[in-house]
Order: sequence, then structure tokens, then C-alpha cells
Amino acid sequence: MHTSPHLLDPLLSRQSVGALEDPAPQGADLDLILEAGLRAPDHGRLRPWRFVLIRGDARMALSDCLAAAGRDRQAPQAQIDRIRAWPLRTPLLIGVGAQIRPGHSIPEIEQMLSAGAAAMNMLNAIHMLGYAGMWVTGANTYDPKVNAALGFQAPSRLVGFLAVGTAKAPSPGAAGPAARPDRHAHVIDWSGPLNGKAAAQARRARTPHCPVAPVRPMHS
Ligand SMILES: Cc1cc2nc3c(=O)[nH]c(=O)nc-3n(C[C@H](O)[C@H](O)[C@H](O)COP(=O)(O)O)c2cc1C
Repeated sequence: MHTSPHLLDPLLSRQSVGALEDPAPQGADLDLILEAGLRAPDHGRLRPWRFVLIRGDARMALSDCLAAAGRDRQAPQAQIDRIRAWPLRTPLLIGVGAQIRPGHSIPEIEQMLSAGAAAMNMLNAIHMLGYAGMWVTGANTYDPKVNAALGFQAPSRLVGFLAVGTAKAPSPGAAGPAARPDRHAHVIDWSGPLNGKAAAQARRARTPHCPVAPVRPMHS
């Protein structure tokens, strides 16, 4: 067993980056990132993961597709303009989706969660290889026309896009990385069914932005 806390530094230093520029991972680096996605846990070996790479000129086609979907949803013009611009300033987009097997003994939620785990594995790999990325959804991820354009017919569906590239240098005066949450506000040490005061305490611990004192281990 390794006990050096530094082993986890690459994992613990990950943060999402929305301001991206070239280069995007390609070749062997991109292969490693995709392999990391395919390492996600998967109940029943259903292999629900589907990754759609959108790069180069294909980003223009995605831009048109997202803008058309936004218009169909009657989104405000300013939002459509933002949607249209986003793929063009993103070096690489990976549409991450789940090929859902309806009626299977493995519940659909688990198939979706596996695709989410693949997205997370890829985000970590992107960071560990020195690139940067961010998981983005928004209305387009849930839009049936966008899903169909990327090859997902219900019940299969996108779980989001990974925006990938290299982090732009922060502009002077920009805020640093957001502080990570206090783990005491998110973790309880369960030792039996919760009730009364302990249950209320635990509920507060599960509310991320709730400013509560650290939850002490219960029944101690
Ligand atoms: C499923 C999912 C969807 C997200 N969708 C968006 C999004 O559409 N727009 C956005 O600004 N952030 C979105 N986020 C949040 C960012 O990916 C990121 O987690 C957040 O900015 C916090 O940064 P951090 O990962 O460094 O903590 C989403 C996160 C998840 C897990």
C-alpha cells in the first residue's frame, strides 16, 4: 500500500478550465484520454460509453447545429450567439453519451452513471497529461435534436460535452482557483440508522453550500 499523499497530487489538483486554446490533445495523448474513459466502472459489462470527437471544421457544423436547436427552443438571440461561438473557441469537444439498453436488469440510471464516470476519468486524464478541460451541459445536452445529430436516439442520450484544450494564461487580476469544499460538510461517519438530531445534522452535511459547523462523528 502506498501512503505518500503526493501520489494523489494529480487528482487533487484538477480543476475545470473554461478558457481554452490550442493545442488540444491528439494522437497518442488523445488515445490515452479515451482509454481512461473506457476504464470507467460498468455494471453488467454493458459498455454504454459513446464518445463523439468534434474537432477542426466539424466544430462549425456543431456550432450551426447548436444554434439551430437554440432557435427552435426560442432561446434569446444573445444566448444563441453565445452557443454559436462556444464550439469555435474550443479546440476539441468530446460529446459523452450513454448507449442505453432499455428494460435491462441493469437500471438505466446505472448506465448513465457509468457514462458520467467515463467523463470524469477523461477529465482527470486530460489534466494529468497537462491539458485542461471542463464538463459542460446546458439545454443543448438535453435537446433531442442535438442528441440525434450526435447519434443518440432516446433512450440513449448525451451526458454532456467535455471542452478540451490547453488552459489560457489567466488574465492579470483574475481570481485564482476556487477553494475546495470542507470535507466535513460532505462526509458523515455512519454507524447506524439516522433519526432525530443526528438525521438533521447529516442532512445539513449533504447540503454543499450550507454553512454548518463540521459534523462530528455520530454516536460518539
Ligand atoms: C454534469 C455536469 C454538467 C455541468 N454543466 C455545466 C455547464 O453547462 N456550464 C458550466 O458553466 N458548468 C457546468 N458544470 C460545472 C463545471 O464543469 C465545473 O465542475 C465547475 O465549474 C466547477 O469547477 P471545478 O470542476 O474546478 O470544481 C457542469 C458539471 C457537471 C458535473
